[in-house]
Amino acid sequence: MDRRDFLKGLGTAALAGAFAGGAARAAEAGEEFHFAVVADPHCAEGPRKGMESLGTGTDRFLRCVEAMKALPAAEQPDFVLVLGDLHTDAFLPLLKEVPYPVHVTFGNHESTPEQRKNLRDAFPGDFTVNGEPSDYYSFTHKGARFISLCDAGLGGEHIGTLCSENIRPRGQCEWLEAELSAPEPRKVLFAHIPVERNGGDREMHLNRNDSRWMNALLEEKGPDAAFFGHLHTPTEEYSNGKSRVWQVRSCCWNGGNAPVGFLLARMTPGGVSCREILTGGGA
Ligand SMILES: [Fe+2]
Repeated sequence: MDRRDFLKGLGTAALAGAFAGGAARAAEAGEEFHFAVVADPHCAEGPRKGMESLGTGTDRFLRCVEAMKALPAAEQPDFVLVLGDLHTDAFLPLLKEVPYPVHVTFGNHESTPEQRKNLRDAFPGDFTVNGEPSDYYSFTHKGARFISLCDAGLGGEHIGTLCSENIRPRGQCEWLEAELSAPEPRKVLFAHIPVERNGGDREMHLNRNDSRWMNALLEEKGPDAAFFGHLHTPTEEYSNGKSRVWQVRSCCWNGGNAPVGFLLARMTPGGVSCREILTGGGA
């Protein structure tokens, strides 16, 4: 084979590889899968008055894991998203009990530099942007992009923000804009403190101006889904443009001792749908 034939052969092989890669990506982008979404495990809390039979925060988180394991094979989650307020010291030892990959985001209960470092160190594959430690990150799975925001800063305040001395590195908003423009057709956002859906100045939500910016961004970019925790109220779902937004009940406790539980999400080419699995309470 002369040099020209060799190079031509290389080109054909590269082209074939590119088509195969494109086909693989197209197949991935159409692949259905499930993932679980668990909010506010508060693992260090003791038994709750009126819900003593459900045990500690740790017990209540592990009830979710047991409920996942009991799901039929076709609904087994590929991974679990945990939406903050983990109580790092109590949560991290439980990871060995979870037979699924876990991805977490910071809550207002993880707002000290030490707590954040401990969590980043426990998930070294996640909390990284451009090879540097980061409080926000993304990962891809079967052609879908999952984007974890850090919107809890300022030493544990219950109103959220996207910019703070305690959210590093600088530039989370520009990073999010780029993430939502990434080539994957399917995208999911997850964070602890929910956007205020009407852009109001309201307790327990992302601050007024960040909420207005986020609402406009969701409407413009249209990720399939956004998941938030923090509210400790029964799960609510609403739309913003093409995006479905879920405010997910806690798996540890909710106001008025409303039932605890988690979401089983199903990703399809058409978007994300969820069904709620209750794990106790509400008697
Ligand atoms: Fe919270």
